[in-house]
Amino acid sequence: MATRKKIGLVGAGNIGGELARLIANKELGDVVLFDIPAKEKFAQGKALDLEQNGAVVGYDSTITGTSNWEHMAGADVLIVTAGIPRKPGQSRDDLVATNLPIIRDVAANVKKHCPDAFVIVISNPLDAMVYELKRVTGLPRERVVGMAGVLDSARFQLFLAREAGVSVKDIRTTVLGGHGDDMVPVLSYCTINGTPVGQLIAKDKLSAIVDRTRKGGGEIVGLMGTSAFYAPASSAIAMAESYLKDQKRLLPAAAYLEGEYGYKDLFMGVPVVIGGKGVERIVVIELSEEEKGMLAKSAKSVQAVVDVVKKA
Ligand SMILES: NC(=O)c1ccc[n+]([C@@H]2O[C@H](COP(=O)([O-])OP(=O)(O)OC[C@H]3O[C@@H](n4cnc5c(N)ncnc54)[C@H](O)[C@@H]3O)[C@@H](O)[C@H]2O)c1
Repeated sequence: MATRKKIGLVGAGNIGGELARLIANKELGDVVLFDIPAKEKFAQGKALDLEQNGAVVGYDSTITGTSNWEHMAGADVLIVTAGIPRKPGQSRDDLVATNLPIIRDVAANVKKHCPDAFVIVISNPLDAMVYELKRVTGLPRERVVGMAGVLDSARFQLFLAREAGVSVKDIRTTVLGGHGDDMVPVLSYCTINGTPVGQLIAKDKLSAIVDRTRKGGGEIVGLMGTSAFYAPASSAIAMAESYLKDQKRLLPAAAYLEGEYGYKDLFMGVPVVIGGKGVERIVVIELSEEEKGMLAKSAKSVQAVVDVVKKA
């Protein structure tokens, strides 16, 4: 008999709740929403609200809230949002001090209770937190990935679509590098259904869009006083769904590099194929000298945070 997949969400906050809703709506599996003991009742309340939502919209996924890691055992997929989000004026790197001990705690429990899961990390500073989770769990690189590129590309896509006056569906973009303000929106691979964007959008407008994309997270923090959560959750779900359904989607994501693009022992945003075996392939695309230079700058920023993590 086929059984439902089990999806563990570590962190029942803004992104965690939206992840649970999307998983249930898409009937990807049953959800266990985990948070710290002080937030267990909150997680249980959110889970119950979401199960009641299923009676209205018509899904049968079970959604439970817990602070007991034993309830996460056997998860097929784990999505990690544990940690605090940015406040206005903060950079993602300012979160290291608070989020590093949280990620270490989560990673130790992943190793103990969910050693077979495919793990998607969202917590910031993303590239350093996913690095640390892989280091502590010792999981193979196929099964640990960071979500950033899908979200950053979506932001890029939206701004280009609005400027060109076309549907977001027809824009193809990719954003590489670290999930920081020196990320690399790759204009040379950016098309409107095959037509290079440069044919429809003027150069100065494109530069302004690249800049807005890089600061896209901060723009929302400035408006809301906390991080975005709808688009981040949808982005992680695209990755989880590709794994669960073996879709083999080619998506930008933070993957552990072992020499690809000239970088080693570092997580950074690159195009990857996500299928039933996890991160099945890292795709190396040609970059211009200028793009390579921007990637090197971004890698340097990521390495600086990873070095802080290694010393802590
Ligand atoms: N990668 C990205 O593109 C991206 C985008 C947006 C936000 N983020 C990051 O995602 C994280 C979560 O954002 P949010 O808006 O959901 O925050 P949130 O504050 O709403 O939720 C985070 C939850 O994590 C819980 N938590 C803390 N310690 C924990 C532990 N040890 N185990 C389990 N849960 C724990 C908190 O109690 C809280 O409920 C933040 O670090 C934020 O910066 C990343």
